[in-house]
Amino acid sequence: MADLPSDFWAGWITVLTVVSFLGLAWLVFSVYFSANGHADEDSPVWDETLREGSNPAPMWWFWMILALMVLSVVYLMLYPGLGSYSGALRWSQGGRLDESFATYAQEFEATRRLVLAAPFETLHDDERVMESAERIYEQNCAACHGPTGAGQAANFPNIVDDDWQWGGTPEQVEQTLRAGRQAVMPGLAAVLDEATISAVAQHVIAMQSGAEVAAGDPGQTAYATYCSACHGADGSGNTLLGAPNIVDDTAVYGNSVETIATTIANGRFGIMPPFAERLDDAQIHMLVAWLTRDSSP
Ligand code: HEC
Ligand code: HEC
Repeated sequence: MADLPSDFWAGWITVLTVVSFLGLAWLVFSVYFSANGHADEDSPVWDETLREGSNPAPMWWFWMILALMVLSVVYLMLYPGLGSYSGALRWSQGGRLDESFATYAQEFEATRRLVLAAPFETLHDDERVMESAERIYEQNCAACHGPTGAGQAANFPNIVDDDWQWGGTPEQVEQTLRAGRQAVMPGLAAVLDEATISAVAQHVIAMQSGAEVAAGDPGQTAYATYCSACHGADGSGNTLLGAPNIVDDTAVYGNSVETIATTIANGRFGIMPPFAERLDDAQIHMLVAWLTRDSSP
């Protein structure tokens, strides 16, 4: 209650609480101890013999209400409730939170420092660290990358294979987690006609199978002009731009001529959200260890 905007409101709450408490007390006492037992005489009569009357509620109700009132007064003395008065016990929700944070920090600080200092090779072999990392994964990442990290919905990449769009060294993966990634593959529908787009898509498929390409193939020419700057002359991609390898078998969006043509026409703009604010250093460190455990970058 100490964070009320001004003393005025704290005072206002105190007055309101005290006045309603006294009003209630007056009401209860007047119901039980007012001297108007004979008011019955003038009360309306219904159906010839039914009289409304005004008999007070049973006496034990009175004692119960009295006990509750005493309890309220004691409560307001011990705990915050009367404006900005913080109560004799100095209890506060914020205080409780601080306490549990302090306990948490004390309990885990040492472990956290150990984890942060350990090289990845050590963490890879540490069952407990890998299990913690998996739990962090489940809570923060599984919604997009799927329960096992194998990707899902032709939109979220597999992050437990050896194929890295943004690079698979621990430094690159850490960068991906901390700052997020925003892929930009511009759509070319305005630049290329449908026939050329389809020819390029077919050329990509041909590159995947290593088929011979006839000299002057329109798909190949367009590829060299419009695609190789990002995806490389051989289609193996560029981790600096997040341009994926498009000649392997790990396409995120799909590997049919139609999907590839859609990608070329409309572009793709996958977004990996940043986690620097949501996870602490040790959590990110464990995730990086977990993600790089089987791949030799
Ligand atoms: C400015 C750089 C850039 C250019 C130019 C570019 N791409 Fe891309 N391409 C990307 C990026 C970045 C992605 C990843 C998009 C994402 O993850 O959302 C991508 C994704 C793709 C994919 C999807 C791969 C998958 O995993 O499903 C295909 C296929 C593709 N590009 C083919 C092409 C072709 C063919 C061309 C030429 C017509 C081309 N790209 C031109 C940057 C580029
Ligand atoms: C809102 C959905 C979403 C969440 C949550 C999410 N990601 Fe991603 N992540 C993506 C998308 C989409 C991409 C692909 C970005 C692109 O197209 O380049 C991606 C890319 C990645 C990559 C890059 C893969 C590569 O090949 O370079 C890694 C690593 C990754 N995510 C790990 C994680 C981890 C670890 C978490 C949890 C802390 C997480 N992601 C949470 C959507 C998500």
